[in-house]
Amino acid sequence: MPKRCIDLRSDTVTQPTLKMREAMMYAEVGDDCAGEDPTVNRLQSLAAQLLGKQAALFVPTGTMGNNVAVLTHTNAGNTIILDSEAHIYYYECGAISALGGVMPITINSDDGCPNPDQVEFYLQRDPIRFPKIGLICLENTHNRRGGRAVPLEQMRDMQSVAIQYEVPVHLDGARIFNAAHALGTQVKDIADCADSVSFCLSKGLSAPVGSLLVGSSDFIENAIQVRRRLGGGMRQSGVIAAAGIIALTEMTDRLVEDHENAQYLAKELAEIDSLELDQTDFDTNMVVVNVQKIGMTAPEFVRIAREHDIRISYLDQDHIRLVTNCDVNRENIEYAADILVKLIRSIIN
Ligand SMILES: Cc1ncc(COP(=O)(O)O)c(C=O)c1O
Repeated sequence: MPKRCIDLRSDTVTQPTLKMREAMMYAEVGDDCAGEDPTVNRLQSLAAQLLGKQAALFVPTGTMGNNVAVLTHTNAGNTIILDSEAHIYYYECGAISALGGVMPITINSDDGCPNPDQVEFYLQRDPIRFPKIGLICLENTHNRRGGRAVPLEQMRDMQSVAIQYEVPVHLDGARIFNAAHALGTQVKDIADCADSVSFCLSKGLSAPVGSLLVGSSDFIENAIQVRRRLGGGMRQSGVIAAAGIIALTEMTDRLVEDHENAQYLAKELAEIDSLELDQTDFDTNMVVVNVQKIGMTAPEFVRIAREHDIRISYLDQDHIRLVTNCDVNRENIEYAADILVKLIRSIIN
């Protein structure tokens, strides 16, 4: 078999499709800071319509989408409540505090969605002594919780507590289309559980760059100013929005293949007793595996897998992460699974 390198580090490594490249080449553009880019406007309308919100805003990254949301919903000195493994808390370089003067209250929730009772504990505290809670943030699918799709009922429970205390909810829906497939629902239904949602075009949907923030017209009007403050006001960004339109119109249905491939990987790895893997834990495009019992740290295993031309990532000292994506087809998934299983067996034997 010819040697090949298979990249399962993330779905962010995906290449733009040929159709995206063509669309970018011929995109009709204008100055988006003046609201005059027809391609950006088309993408924003499409995103708002798909997610069932009044308006949308094109931003360069998912991180900026989240930060524009947090800064638009809150004021300096506020706190926000979120899961302790949330992307906003874990991977965004402290932006909410550095840029917004906002403090996090983290709640450890194994399944990725804070328990409403725990959240309520904070919401009902005396507002004179404690900082105001400006926002609750959810994440679906949840990256550091193994790509778990958080069920709608859980989100709705959280939302009703938020409504009771008049605190808005923001959803980091970077992979909301994966969540919709896994939950057998529409992205609109998931978005309905939050006041604002950010989602990415540049992950499993394969666009080279870009995310969207959606919400009410008033919210987006304020968000436009925050985006500019953060340096995210772009000019002829229709060039990249054009790829985003292809992402939304042609790339969402095929995510099912990535989920099936993740299930295949999980099933193969579950054959190895020392990995203690439950295949049913993985319902989207990520497989997270504890490698502690094979006698190796996750970073060491990642390095050795790389020597065998399989690129994966790690979440911490014990857990490796494999992310299926549109640039790795079933044949290559089978090949990668075969190499990894053989590699692990050679380590434990
Ligand atoms: C759940 C989640 N939110 C937000 C982001 C940030 O997206 P970006 O890399 O475009 O800033 C990511 C990136 O992987 C993510 O996994």
